[in-house]
Amino acid sequence: MVPGCLKTSCGLPTFCLAVIAFLAVTATAGQKPHILHVEVADAGWSDVGWNSPEFKTPYLDRLRGQGVALPHFYSQPTGTASRIALLTGRYPYTIGYKSIKGMYFPYSNFSLPLEYKLLPKYLQDRGYSTHLSGTWDMGFCSEDYLPQRRGFETFYGSLKGFLDHYNHTSVGLSAGYDFWNGSTVDRSAQGKYSTTLFSDRAVDIVSNHSVRDDQRPLYIFLAFDALRKPLQAPAHFIKKCNDIEDSDRKIRCAMMAAVDDGVKRVIRAFKDAEYLGDLLVIFHSSSGGPLNVGSRNYPLRAKKASVYEGGTRVPAFLYSKTLFGEAANSSFVGPTHITDLFPTVLKAAKMGTSRLPDGLDGVNQWTRLTSGRQSARRDMVYDVDISTGDGAVRRDGYKLVKFSEFATQKCPGYIDFPPSENKPRRVDCKEYELYNLDTDPAEEHDLSDVKRNKLAKLKDRYEAAEARAVPHVVFVNATASYPENNDGVWQPYGC
Ligand SMILES: *[C@@H]1O[C@H](CO)[C@@H](O)[C@H](O)[C@H]1NC(C)=O
Ligand SMILES: *[C@@H]1O[C@H](CO)[C@@H](O)[C@H](O)[C@H]1NC(C)=O
Ligand SMILES: *[C@@H]1O[C@H](CO)[C@@H](O)[C@H](O)[C@H]1NC(C)=O
Ligand SMILES: *[C@@H]1O[C@H](CO)[C@@H](O)[C@H](O)[C@H]1NC(C)=O
Ligand SMILES: *[C@@H]1O[C@H](CO)[C@@H](O)[C@H](O)[C@H]1NC(C)=O
Ligand SMILES: *[C@@H]1O[C@H](CO)[C@@H](O)[C@H](O)[C@H]1NC(C)=O
Repeated sequence: MVPGCLKTSCGLPTFCLAVIAFLAVTATAGQKPHILHVEVADAGWSDVGWNSPEFKTPYLDRLRGQGVALPHFYSQPTGTASRIALLTGRYPYTIGYKSIKGMYFPYSNFSLPLEYKLLPKYLQDRGYSTHLSGTWDMGFCSEDYLPQRRGFETFYGSLKGFLDHYNHTSVGLSAGYDFWNGSTVDRSAQGKYSTTLFSDRAVDIVSNHSVRDDQRPLYIFLAFDALRKPLQAPAHFIKKCNDIEDSDRKIRCAMMAAVDDGVKRVIRAFKDAEYLGDLLVIFHSSSGGPLNVGSRNYPLRAKKASVYEGGTRVPAFLYSKTLFGEAANSSFVGPTHITDLFPTVLKAAKMGTSRLPDGLDGVNQWTRLTSGRQSARRDMVYDVDISTGDGAVRRDGYKLVKFSEFATQKCPGYIDFPPSENKPRRVDCKEYELYNLDTDPAEEHDLSDVKRNKLAKLKDRYEAAEARAVPHVVFVNATASYPENNDGVWQPYGC
């Protein structure tokens, strides 16, 4: 009996043979992989080279080409909600969080409750050496809520994000410094570009790990504050984007080029440490792009903070030199949701499915990904907002969008414009819209009047999703955290 073939997924003899061959060439098959998890903030569909050649991301393009592309990867409509989904494996609306008009920051006392054991904590408990280089975004009302207490062995970066990329100060009403090395305010970061600092730190972690001959697998969450505004980038990256006329888009392109360069340097460090054969890379954006700061989601509809595809379907891929075997250089068919990363990463870290927490919305896709099959997901909730009555769900190729204030509110559903046009095309919204994403990924043709049965079924699905919503957590202004009350620094304030 071949051990790898006891599972039902090994039903086909040819697949078993492939597994044997695969194990034979993969010396490290029994080990937990090192994981480099890269998140870029607010990178829209067309803010990466593979979807928009005017953007210069040659290294990421190549990794994606050699890895498994995730062309139907979905985030939440906004970054904080996506981070909740990623770290808990749950749809934010099922635990009291809004994705749109959530306004957690900068003034509220939002802090992700301690009752949730987070993805990095599971990995740490499995023997991983876990590190966050970048933005935390999950609240800091007291020391207990800081990344170091939620599963990260080390933390380097910002608690809040949305900072000036050089002086690391929040821009707006309550301006304050926010750059940390563990629990110490790190003033040495001042004047240095955030994307470069976060990448350098990850390089450092990898090489020190290797120098110390630390046998533990690494999990590095490299969570860039780019491409968030303010739009800033070093001149040598702007030069790469000089062909772009629009000045916001040019700098956005440069910020993405800096991400490309940073990831390249980190992966070179893995290579230098001879870890490359054991490395899994995860790359995704935190939400669709905000069109008012040079982002483009074309040809997808709408933008960040909407449940249309342009707000939620984001650039993503996986890469590994060894783990995907025959499935490398392919595209994963069917939807993957950001919550899926929770069980999928733990499965990649060889954790038994029975040890996952109850009530996850994330679907384990690992076996499907590594065997070249299609997504285990037929069904997805984009979001449900019980205070506005808006949201979206999908089942197979069909998607229902609910927009309750269609009669009185400005329709959020304009279609991002193709490069040849200079302004968005307006379209009308309805209370219920139905799209066939297989044939109409841009959501241009509402089928709610013609596919009545489909619409009824999707409405049922929406109601079932809505039934799981819990009332929104109430936030108050956490004035005690404000920089003006803390020597100009955002910091824990007691809760
Ligand atoms: C991926 O495969 C295609 C053929 O299906 C090939 O043209 C392409 O060069 C490959 N890409 C990489 C990066 O190997
Ligand atoms: C934020 O403040 C509200 C109102 O006082 C409170 O109900 C909530 O628990 C607070 N949140 C945290 C994380 O302290
Ligand atoms: C940081 O840079 C912003 C511009 O993005 C500026 O408005 C602010 O005054 C600067 N803050 C400090 C402390 O230098
Ligand atoms: C960060 O702190 C560690 C010790 O916790 C120290 O070794 C390192 O030099 C510090 N790095 C910076 C950039 O301050
Ligand atoms: C890596 O090691 C160097 C030299 O010992 C040290 O200065 C640096 O702080 C270490 N960095 C990290 C992230 O541990
Ligand atoms: C929170 O504080 C900000 C900045 O002072 C202010 O604009 C906002 O209205 C306050 N919100 C509440 C609910 O008090």
